[in-house]
Amino acid sequence: MADLSVEIAGIRFPNPIMPAAGPPVRDGRAILRCAAGGAGGLVSKTISRYAAEPPTPNIAEIGHGLVNTELWSELPPERWIDHEYAIAREAGLPLIVSLGYSADDIAWLAPQIRPFADAVELSTHYIGEDAAPMVAAIGAAKAALDVPVFVKLSPLGREMVLAAEQAEAAGADGIVAINSFGPVLAIDPETRLPHLGGSDGYGWLSGPAIKTLALRCVRDIARAVRIPVIGVGGVSHGIDAVEMLMAGASAVQVCTAAMLHGTGVFGKIANELDAWLDAHGYATAAEIQGVALGGMPAAWSAGIPVVSEEPCNGCDLCAMSCPYEAIAIVERLAVIDLAACVRCGLCVTRCRRGAIDWVPQAPVA
Ligand SMILES: Cc1cc2nc3c(=O)[nH]c(=O)nc-3n(C[C@H](O)[C@H](O)[C@H](O)COP(=O)(O)O)c2cc1C
Repeated sequence: MADLSVEIAGIRFPNPIMPAAGPPVRDGRAILRCAAGGAGGLVSKTISRYAAEPPTPNIAEIGHGLVNTELWSELPPERWIDHEYAIAREAGLPLIVSLGYSADDIAWLAPQIRPFADAVELSTHYIGEDAAPMVAAIGAAKAALDVPVFVKLSPLGREMVLAAEQAEAAGADGIVAINSFGPVLAIDPETRLPHLGGSDGYGWLSGPAIKTLALRCVRDIARAVRIPVIGVGGVSHGIDAVEMLMAGASAVQVCTAAMLHGTGVFGKIANELDAWLDAHGYATAAEIQGVALGGMPAAWSAGIPVVSEEPCNGCDLCAMSCPYEAIAIVERLAVIDLAACVRCGLCVTRCRRGAIDWVPQAPVA
């Protein structure tokens, strides 16, 4: 078994998989279920100065993810402070308390949640693109707290790297990226209405649909700042966590997969991560952290697709998908015409049998 433990801003997590702020951590008991499901750390649903009153309906499953317009916790902050955080702490795992939104809100909330928090996570979802409110919120949290302050960034029109740099400069101890993406629109053609309520029916996209966006943001941010990055967005399987860690994340949060597959998903992802590390000869999760931060090697860019005879069964998927008509099936074997091939690489990922490899070549001088 690999050592999955990670340390972030001085906090030790037994494994790097934790819930993201959302319905799976909507109260203390729900948080305990995430712990029982194998999470290595805990995050509580964002609270603000008042209980949220989201429109209904506010969550819908669409292809490859969810759309939601759920806002923050529907429980008032007093309820969390009087009951829910104490229940969550029974798990004995590090607890990151999610807070929103303005500096005034944070200044009011932070001293009250302090007894329960190993760290806080400031949601920037509803404070706009301008850095000033985020910087002020960080200042308010730092003034009131002696625990790490993480800042969660939303991929709006926002320049994520700039926002992360501004958060770091303002004293943030870590970045959480990304929140759900949007606004987006999902329509039910039968009812002719948006799936979500509210004045315009718009919502926020999460789940596998945003994984590649999250990976890009995590890597860009990890390249730009020195503070740790917690990756979130579309993680459902151990291999997704592997990719997040490689992109520079120190740990991974999960929301949509826990909603679609239950809270056992945290342990499942951790076990799959463990198995992948074992199979690839790594002793610790920390060893793969940031290994994909570098650029593309020149020999890789100069590579070509090469078919292996044994796994290829001539199924025609690669030939049918080749936009350049560079592949033919000859006696149940894919044959690539390198004169017609433009090295787009699609066939490598299109093959279901792993029969086409991208083989690096000496770069042309
Ligand atoms: C229904 C729902 C409610 C959410 N509520 C919050 C929230 O209160 N605070 C927050 O920071 N993010 C919230 N999120 C965003 C998630 O924490 C997470 O950043 C996003 O969904 C991407 O991760 P995922 O693809 O694993 O779901 C919510 C997401 C969903 C789907």
